[in-house]
Parts: sequence; structure tokens; C-alpha cells
Amino acid sequence: MILEYLQKQVDFFNKKIGDFIPSGEPKILFDAMRYSLTAGGKRIRPILVVESAKSVKPGIDINTFIEIPVACEFIHTYSLIHDDLPAMDDDDFRRGKPTCHKVFGEAMAILAGDGLLTHAFNLISLNKFLESEKLIRIINILSEKVGIYGMVAGQAADMDKNFRDVEFIHTHKTAKFIEACCEIGGVIGSADESQIKYLRDYGYAIGMAFQIWDDVLDEIGEEEKLGKKAHKDKEKDKITYPLVYGVERSKEMARNYVEKAITSLKDIPNRDILVNIAKFIISREV
Ligand code: IPE
Ligand code: IPE
Ligand code: MG
Ligand code: MG
Ligand code: MG
Repeated sequence: MILEYLQKQVDFFNKKIGDFIPSGEPKILFDAMRYSLTAGGKRIRPILVVESAKSVKPGIDINTFIEIPVACEFIHTYSLIHDDLPAMDDDDFRRGKPTCHKVFGEAMAILAGDGLLTHAFNLISLNKFLESEKLIRIINILSEKVGIYGMVAGQAADMDKNFRDVEFIHTHKTAKFIEACCEIGGVIGSADESQIKYLRDYGYAIGMAFQIWDDVLDEIGEEEKLGKKAHKDKEKDKITYPLVYGVERSKEMARNYVEKAITSLKDIPNRDILVNIAKFIISREV
């Protein structure tokens, strides 16, 4: 049931993202952005924005805030393009296709990432329906959690060979962005402050489970199913949960985070889809 529902949401976002793909000159820059935006992907972050909003305001019209989840996917796509660069993880495959820098060259991949990140905030500014106070709060949450106190810090810690705190790395490089998506959904749905905190706690916990599971899949998964190379973390000497705790204990820790996430939702009125998304995260095939 949840897989069918998520697939419908993925189709919806693939279409919506298509509507927002920018065009302009030089063509190669826009081609590079389009290439990575349309390469596929689970679209889990925009889905979380929408489902978090719906969990507190079931009948809410997605079209009144569509720029926000689309902006989140732009930011996520930028983060993947840069994560794959030779100077970072040096990956050749992503979402089952050659990485952006393999197709368009390093300079264009860097610029496509820069473009997607910057344009995400432009998209948010174009929303005509949410009150300005909400939009400013959304910009504040997002820029903090994908910026220097969030994802950028996490990616820097991931690259710093002297940095050994795996919980810090995963919190920052992945969980805070996912947390932001859920928190923002709460803001959009006019949740009260305690509900926003529950959604934030839920997002953090599934974000941790998500990255731990990604590490586990890198360790024991297959390239074909992942759409990206497996066994890269060891090769690159990355600090991961399986490295620190072993595969079985890592899986258990991911399951515990999912339990915690579900508990955080107990006072969220329409929580079923969010509960199922949490379970889905640790059911992805190995
Ligand atoms: C990959 O994110 C990077 C991590 C944070 C593990 P996703 O697993 O959400 O990638 P796509 O969007 O589905 O390709
Ligand atoms: C990426 O973590 C986190 C990002 C912020 C992009 P990984 O480096 O483990 O992601 P994959 O395995 O390449 O997708
Ligand atoms: Mg990385
Ligand atoms: Mg990587
Ligand atoms: Mg990984």
C-alpha cells in the first residue's frame, strides 16, 4: 500500500519538478541542472514536506505551497552533484546514470550545483499563497539546516580525515535536512509549536535511520538496486555506522531510530502515512 502511494507521489513530483526546471543560457549549465533533476530518485524530501503538512492539515491544497517541496528537491540534487565530485566522493554513477561531472565536466557540475541551490531560494520567494512570516520562517529553517550548521558542516566533517564522530557526521550531513523538511511541513500546515517539535523530532530520527541504512546498503547492497556503486565507503575510508558498530548493530540502531520517530508522532492527528514512510526507510532492499 505505502509503496503504491509513494510511487504516485514520486510521479506527481517528477511532473511538478519538470514544470519548474529553469531554462536559459549558456545551454550547457541548464542541461546539467535538468540532467540531474530528471535522473530519478526517491523524492523522499519533497514527499516529507507534503505529508508533514497533511498530517496536521489533511485537506491542504499542495498547489498553494508546491514551490517549497520542489525547492527541497533542488537543494538535495545540488548536494548529490557536489557529493559525487572527484574532490569529494568521486563517484561515477548516481540514480543509475553517469554522474553530472562525468557527463558535463567538473566545472559545469560545480556550477549546476551552485545554480540549483541558489535557485531553490528564488523558487521559495515566488510563492504567492503562504504568509510572508511563514515564508521567512521556512527560509530560516532550510538555510540553517542545509548550511554551515547543517549539511555543509556534515559534508566537511565527512571529508575531514581527523574527524571521527559518526553521530555528528550523520546528524549534520543528512538528518538535519530531513528534519527541516518535516518541520517546514508543520509550519506550512499551521501546526502548533508542540506539533512542529514532534514533526522535527520525527524528521531527525528518520534522517538518522536513513543515513545509517544508506551506510548499510553501501556495505552489503548491490549496485544494480542502488543505482550507485556499492562498497565505496570502505574504499574511501569513510566513517560509517557499519565501520564503527558493525552491520547488525547498525541495523538495530536504525530500527531504534524508526521506533523513536514513530513515538514522536503520537500527538500528530493524521500520522499513518508518516508512520509508513518511517518503516519504508529501513525496508529498502539490500
Ligand atoms: C542519497 O539520498 C544521499 C543520502 C543522504 C544518503 P537519497 O537516497 O534520498 O537519494 P535519491 O534522491 O533517492 O537518489
Ligand atoms: C551523502 O552521503 C550525504 C549528502 C549530503 C549528499 P553519502 O556520500 O553517503 O551519499 P551517497 O552514498 O553518495 O548517496
Ligand atoms: Mg558523501
Ligand atoms: Mg557519496
Ligand atoms: Mg552513502
